[in-house]
Amino acid sequence: MSSARIETRELLIGDYAAVVALWRQVEGVEISEGDLEHEISAYLQRNPGLSRVAYDGDRIVGAVLCGHDGRRGWIYHLAIASSYRCHGVGKRLVDECVAGLRDAGIRRAIILVAGDNAPGRNFWLRNGWEELSEAVPMARDV
Ligand SMILES: CC(C)(COP(=O)(O)OP(=O)(O)OC[C@H]1O[C@@H](n2cnc3c(N)ncnc32)[C@H](O)[C@@H]1OP(=O)(O)O)[C@@H](O)C(=O)NCCC(=O)NCCS
Repeated sequence: MSSARIETRELLIGDYAAVVALWRQVEGVEISEGDLEHEISAYLQRNPGLSRVAYDGDRIVGAVLCGHDGRRGWIYHLAIASSYRCHGVGKRLVDECVAGLRDAGIRRAIILVAGDNAPGRNFWLRNGWEELSEAVPMARDV
């Protein structure tokens, strides 16, 4: 695989089936509340241009969701197909998310990494993210 032939663009709702298939394939991404097609469609409309895919010809090989609430940016579900890893594609998608957030006036972004996803955690640490040792993630259904 040559990284030269990988291109990136905005994630569009027409990519939904391919992107969900990718998320299901990779370890470390959990499909959860908010990931149904109409929910992702609403998310993309609310955060135009921020979520990204990488593609090789007609195959989606990477995807990431990105949005913001006006104060913090959030990045979710970064996934690169296993045969396309270690070629800078994950970093490229994250850099594009960060650039989009910066353009939208957002100054800080947050990600949640599953506690048992050591490779994912190491990827983020390697790429300039820091652990929030003073914070404990909490959630509830609403
Ligand atoms: C984590 C993941 C997105 C990395 O994608 P990738 O395209 O292989 O990463 P890149 O090639 O862009 O790597 C960029 C840099 O991070 C480093 N890196 C990549 N994976 C790493 C890992 N698991 N641990 C430490 N460093 C890592 C690379 O060596 C590279 O460093 P460099 O710039 O100094 O050369 C990919 O392995 C993946 O999809 N994993 C499964 C899903 C997942 O865990 N997602 C994160 C959910 S929180």
